[in-house]
Amino acid sequence: MSMIESCGLTKDYDGFVAVRGIDFTVDSGEFFGLLGPNGAGKTTTINILIGLARLSQGRARIAGLDVGEDMVRIKAQIGVVADESNLYDELSGYDNLCFCGSLYGLSPRLRQQRADKLLDEFGLSPARDKKFRAYSRGMKRKLTIAAALIHEPSLLFLDEPTSGIDVESVRQIRRMLQSLNNDGVTIFLTTHYIEEAERLCDRVALMVKGEIVATDSPARLIEACQHDNVLQLTVDQAAAPFLPALSQAFPSVHISEVAEATFAVTSEEILDIAPFALWFGERCARLLEARLVKPSLETAFVMLTNLDAKSMKKEKEKKGT
Ligand SMILES: Nc1ncnc2c1ncn2[C@@H]1O[C@H](COP(=O)(O)OP(=O)(O)O)[C@@H](O)[C@H]1O
Ligand SMILES: [Mg+2]
Repeated sequence: MSMIESCGLTKDYDGFVAVRGIDFTVDSGEFFGLLGPNGAGKTTTINILIGLARLSQGRARIAGLDVGEDMVRIKAQIGVVADESNLYDELSGYDNLCFCGSLYGLSPRLRQQRADKLLDEFGLSPARDKKFRAYSRGMKRKLTIAAALIHEPSLLFLDEPTSGIDVESVRQIRRMLQSLNNDGVTIFLTTHYIEEAERLCDRVALMVKGEIVATDSPARLIEACQHDNVLQLTVDQAAAPFLPALSQAFPSVHISEVAEATFAVTSEEILDIAPFALWFGERCARLLEARLVKPSLETAFVMLTNLDAKSMKKEKEKKGT
């Protein structure tokens, strides 16, 4: 059964089209990711699906219910983790969860039971009685996810759940999401981390400038560039200033900047390192490392979107969460 169906979904903000006629379906039990850079339209898409924004054109259904007409019934079945937390600074972790439970009409006993269970599962029991405002960013994010699960939804929406928090919390959140999904919860998440989408998602939709350019499993998206050779070159200085001249000097290959001092050279031919070492040498730069890497979702992403993978890695500054 389809859990989410989006047909021609469009959002227009006074003439600016943030989401342009996107189509996708998410099956029940699937782990689905919307992957794209900042400004792609990911949050707008989620907001339409959860009833926070009205669509301008098109149609969307969740569990067979129309998002424009049946939001009350939809809300009982979904959990939402927005990019900014909606919890109360002045309440403890435990009280925040119990309060969310009361909003869903859970009995006091049931909400207390679930609150304690969720605190335990997210490793937050030691901070049970601390005020939310005293939580670290990672703890806040985990509690926000726990709160979205208090009514045991069958579909969970998460908007960039691992962005801007510590590595250990990221790991814990990813494990929790995988385990929820194993238990049958359908997951729809947005992310600008290519590697996160590759690791977690059954299927990924690549979104750029309001449009979905491809939707498939990471393996099948990668298959499309399976025949490419990808050579990663790391130099002893910033890569960006070299990019235009380097691309001009080697017009038969595709070159992108993947990290501060690293290029990815993609080609259907076997690549020889020597001409690159020479080229950098002539410009007083040293080639520190060259290695062949297997095509990854990053390679597929760059190929399918014509974007630099590095543009995805720019961390958005966020407050609060
Ligand atoms: N309320 C709004 N009014 C006008 N433009 C908006 C509004 N919300 C988002 N946008 C614009 O829509 C585009 C998509 O934004 P968003 O959905 O937040 O992207 P993402 O979550 O992928 O970063 C951006 O260009 C953003 O500036
Ligand atoms: Mg967003």
